[in-house]
Amino acid sequence: MNLYKTFIKPVLFLFTPETAHKIVFTLLKIPGANFFLKIFYKTENNILEFRKNNFFVSNKIGLAAGLDKDGEVVNQLGNIGFGFVEIGTVTPLAQPGNPKPRLFRLKKDNALINRMGFNNKGAEKMKETLKKIKNKNTTIGINLGKNKITPIDNAYLDYKKSFEILFDYADYFAINVSSPNTPNLRELQDKKHLSKILEEIQKINLSKKTPKPVFLKIAPDLTFQQIDEIIKIVKDTKINGLIATNTTIERTNLKIDSEQITKYGNGGLSGNPLKNKSTEIIKYIKSKISDDIILIGVGGISSLEDVEEKIQAGADLVQLYTSFIYEGPGVVKKLKKQMITKNL
Ligand SMILES: Cc1cc2nc3c(=O)[nH]c(=O)nc-3n(C[C@H](O)[C@H](O)[C@H](O)COP(=O)(O)O)c2cc1C
Repeated sequence: MNLYKTFIKPVLFLFTPETAHKIVFTLLKIPGANFFLKIFYKTENNILEFRKNNFFVSNKIGLAAGLDKDGEVVNQLGNIGFGFVEIGTVTPLAQPGNPKPRLFRLKKDNALINRMGFNNKGAEKMKETLKKIKNKNTTIGINLGKNKITPIDNAYLDYKKSFEILFDYADYFAINVSSPNTPNLRELQDKKHLSKILEEIQKINLSKKTPKPVFLKIAPDLTFQQIDEIIKIVKDTKINGLIATNTTIERTNLKIDSEQITKYGNGGLSGNPLKNKSTEIIKYIKSKISDDIILIGVGGISSLEDVEEKIQAGADLVQLYTSFIYEGPGVVKKLKKQMITKNL
């Protein structure tokens, strides 16, 4: 019997998605939570480890950005079994994000729509939180974004600022230019802005004694021509890899009726309806890059078959978010067990 699906999810789903999120975070912060999680979700991690240069994860299943915006429950998520936990998106200044409601469950589709808008407590606060972590048990990725009030031409300064503040606390950084909920953010995927951001970040990074792995997170709504340009910049700036993909602004392949979808309004769609689209993007990217660029596949992963599809398409590692909400923490343990059996 699945404890989460039978008892916990029906209760959590009585609340709005954001209230449910708050309840879960409160529970995760209770002293002793780590002890319980460690016992309950323990698996043989090391069979699934992945290493390339200075990038290391203890297993190939990661938590995608956006669940732990401020890095408050990193060890708990590590104990649930994630080989890497991407926290953020964090911006230099704290900001409240968009007005509520801004997160919706599409149950029939195993999907979510969100327009959170980078609600977070800011880079300095994240630094204080990460400083307090004792016995860190997973790889920490810090996902960086720009503040809403920062003009697009100054966006690179925001990325630089958070990168410098948080440098010592990340095992890798993800440059997020692909969330649909900050006005104009996706324009940063254009050649001019993207080159500037990645060049500036790498200038600081490569001046350090031990540079950190840097990834770029892209949207699924790009043309192949745009992706070609992005890959060229990735190669020119010698960053370590790509994370494909963020949520989509498309509303195709949905079971939910169109009236309801219109009611929910703008936002990024995640989960099952995003799956094939992100896989296609991964396949295309892989056909254009060599093995020294790490590719993290994300979008609609909830089963072993989904993981296999992403790996066959060219992903070295995978991340998930939406299936964690629908399936619960057990999904990580289940996938890892199955991956070990399949030798993935
Ligand atoms: C509620 C919610 C908030 C998210 N916030 C962020 C974010 O802050 N930064 C980011 O890069 N991606 C964010 N994402 C996107 C996820 O990291 C991931 O790329 C996307 O949901 C696709 O994976 P999935 O289908 O497994 O959910 C968010 C997704 C959801 C559902």
